Amino acid sequence: MAEQLWGGRFSKSTDEMINDFQASIDFDKRMYNEDIAGSIAHATMLAKAGIISEADKDVIVAGLKDIYKKIEAGNFSFEVALEDIHMNIEKRLTDAIGEAGGRLHTARSRNDQVALDTHMYIRRETVEVQKLILDMQAALVETAEKYSDVIMPGYTHLQRAQPILFAHHMMAYFSMLKRDFDRFAGVYQRCDIMPLGAGALAGTTFPIDRQFVAQQLNFENIYSNSLDAVSDRDYIMEFLSAASILMIHLSRLSEETILWCSREFSFIELDDAHCTGSSMMPQKKNPDVSELVRGKTGRVMGHLMAMMTTVKGLPLAYNKDLQEDKEGIFDTIDTVKFSLAVYARILRGMKVRSEVTTRAVTEDFSNATDLADYLVKKGLPFRQAHAVSGKAVHYCIEQNKWLQDMTMDEFKALSPLFEEDILVAIAPETCVKNRNSYGGTSYGQVDMQLKLAKEIMAAEGAAVSANAAKQAKVNE
Ligand code: ARG
Repeated sequence: MAEQLWGGRFSKSTDEMINDFQASIDFDKRMYNEDIAGSIAHATMLAKAGIISEADKDVIVAGLKDIYKKIEAGNFSFEVALEDIHMNIEKRLTDAIGEAGGRLHTARSRNDQVALDTHMYIRRETVEVQKLILDMQAALVETAEKYSDVIMPGYTHLQRAQPILFAHHMMAYFSMLKRDFDRFAGVYQRCDIMPLGAGALAGTTFPIDRQFVAQQLNFENIYSNSLDAVSDRDYIMEFLSAASILMIHLSRLSEETILWCSREFSFIELDDAHCTGSSMMPQKKNPDVSELVRGKTGRVMGHLMAMMTTVKGLPLAYNKDLQEDKEGIFDTIDTVKFSLAVYARILRGMKVRSEVTTRAVTEDFSNATDLADYLVKKGLPFRQAHAVSGKAVHYCIEQNKWLQDMTMDEFKALSPLFEEDILVAIAPETCVKNRNSYGGTSYGQVDMQLKLAKEIMAAEGAAVSANAAKQAKVNE
């Protein structure tokens, strides 16, 4: 069994079961890149400040890079007895380079070290999530453009309401994802603050240079209070809430996908390669991906609740409870990234059945508002026009016909204001075309949204590349 790095005060080694319970190496090993990059920056600073020698620094850095290579190559065995990623690396370094390895942890605690690693890890993954949001936005734009002429019913209360462009519906999700992107940009900003140098909780007696460490690791800010630096998990709660809201958006889209590909709607057809069958019912083609994304939303929201509950009521500064931040954040990162990637694929493989969506707006009363608006444009107050249109719908239901099937005499009997042009006014294409108010569903407004979307995506792409370039890479 490996000897504990903090073993001096103890007369017994840790009980194996207790150690299994408290060790985090099985999951925090994911942060090896950040841990090593952070240690290299720390050692470089220690030498610059004259706290360790240049020679020691050189051996430490070379030793750390060697460990990095071993981990990347899968030649590093992580030991549960060494608790976590920080001590696994430090112990192995000391085994390899001797005394110099023992100087690395000068002016540092695992409390500020783990905070540093987690900040760097989340900063990097935030950019990865943003890249995938951007690709999903591109998939929505592609789908909107591919079906730019398709008209479908828009719904309220899940009842057909007014005809809209299918592209308009897609672009609603684009807008949601734009806010998600911006939320993650905010997460990045508030995560971009360096905790190292806080020590265990109160700072350090050594003349460290935190600005220099921050510069090396591309941090914009430095925690100005050491207690806050090691206790803060706001950036994790923020990441988890941005992730939850994003998943809620994907879940709403999933619900619509599931409805639309049901026999009852039949608005879309998913690619065979994106669905699964039933082991018993031969006819089945199930939208499992959408169901899973909808299902996984609960899991991500659960991680947010868990983290908030963990932090609530926790006294300053570090408490081991905080180690519970990792599995939820890692699982959230995996879930969100996978869901985004998979959904972009679903959209790109999806076919819209325009003959069905067209029928849904033709054999329907979703043009009733337009009938009322027609009368308003002829001078009738809207409230009266609404009543006339309501009566027309009532009459048609009794006569078992649609508004557009009424004769001119029937129209005139309802209001003398009706003229021949009423039929054009209530055709679904006209209903769509006339909703030309800013942000409406008209062809022109949707074109405007698509143009804007391309500008937005270009700006997002530039922001993502700039931040991606700032992330820690050990062997450069
Ligand atoms: N594995 C720990 C965590 O993730 C590292 C910090 C441990 N610090 C301590 N004083 N036990 O929180």
